[in-house]
Amino acid sequence: MYNARILGAGSYLPEKIVTNADLEELMDTSDEWIRQRTGIHERRFVEPGVGPTDLGLQAARRALQSAGLAPEQIDFIIFATLSPEYGFPGCGCLLQEKLGLDTVGALDVRNQCTGFVYSLAIADQFIRTGTYGHILVVGAEVHSTGLEMNTRGRDVAVIFGDGAGAVVVGRSENGDRRILSSHLHAQGKYARKLYLEAPSSLHYPRMTEKMLREGRYYPYMDGRYVFKHAVDRMQNSVREALAENHLEIEDVGLLILHQANLRISEAVVRSLKIPPERVFSNIQRYGNTTAASIPIALDEAVREGRVQPGDVVVLAAFGSGFTWGASMLRW
Ligand code: UT7
Repeated sequence: MYNARILGAGSYLPEKIVTNADLEELMDTSDEWIRQRTGIHERRFVEPGVGPTDLGLQAARRALQSAGLAPEQIDFIIFATLSPEYGFPGCGCLLQEKLGLDTVGALDVRNQCTGFVYSLAIADQFIRTGTYGHILVVGAEVHSTGLEMNTRGRDVAVIFGDGAGAVVVGRSENGDRRILSSHLHAQGKYARKLYLEAPSSLHYPRMTEKMLREGRYYPYMDGRYVFKHAVDRMQNSVREALAENHLEIEDVGLLILHQANLRISEAVVRSLKIPPERVFSNIQRYGNTTAASIPIALDEAVREGRVQPGDVVVLAAFGSGFTWGASMLRW
């Protein structure tokens, strides 16, 4: 058995900035409401025709560069997204082709906001058993083409943004610097509290005229319900990781929560009693980028010097499924 660690991280955000004032033009909302309720000031949207694998490719190149590796040194790809370019095949296959990797295996993970935490756990297992040497883990999303940009859709539309983050996971030569543990949970009884119904294999055709009229190809979210669960479940998964590793909250060098809503993060931070300076947030600039939010934040935190070798880093997420979980690493 080997130990696995993150060898490098990278991220990529589309250039186009969409401010809250821009959204005021499209729906009955206000900059003040969005800032107060979510903490978001602006988000990024792609230009037409740009997909999650285009964003993921740029993030992957940066992660490879930071790990000092060439694409050919990747043995396996894990791609987390809820906004795939096609119904099938998955984005992992498309990225594999864009990276010029001939027959390397590629897996898509459909675990929404928790997708990156699940993907990292899978990569950890493959590295520890010696199956693969270097695994590229990507979280990438294009939400902007799937949001209802009017007053009916405003509760969801103002939250989400596009972006991608990636890491390369490989063997740790120094046993102390490693992924310490992963904690993965799901509870399907809440699936329809936050979901995208259509197109659906329950219908023929999979998108009917009626479904189109009713806007059932836009995400549905019971915002307040999701909010409460996000706060409880993310703090519980951090506590679970601490207990498993016999650590206290004081031992955590940096906490990165899935960037769902600044108020959710603040509630988790208050409850865990972790000093805010040990928590990284960038939702103000990017909104909620679901599977991409943690790897983007991790990359920025590393580049800003917020994480030093030997630090304990905790990543925690919650989202549709419901799914939630945490990864604890010694950086
Ligand atoms: O990524 C993981 C999954 N997602 C999340 O974790 C998100 C969880 N939920 C949330 O972040 C929050 O519930 C929201 C940001 C979506 C909504 O904030 P809230 O404080 O829970 O507001 P609310 O849904 O209780 O709505 C309060 C009011 C309502 O008006 P009335 O009924 O009080 O007259 C809404 O119609 O705010 C109204 N509203 C808006 N007003 C202006 C809802 N969306 C908007 C909007 N602009 N965009």
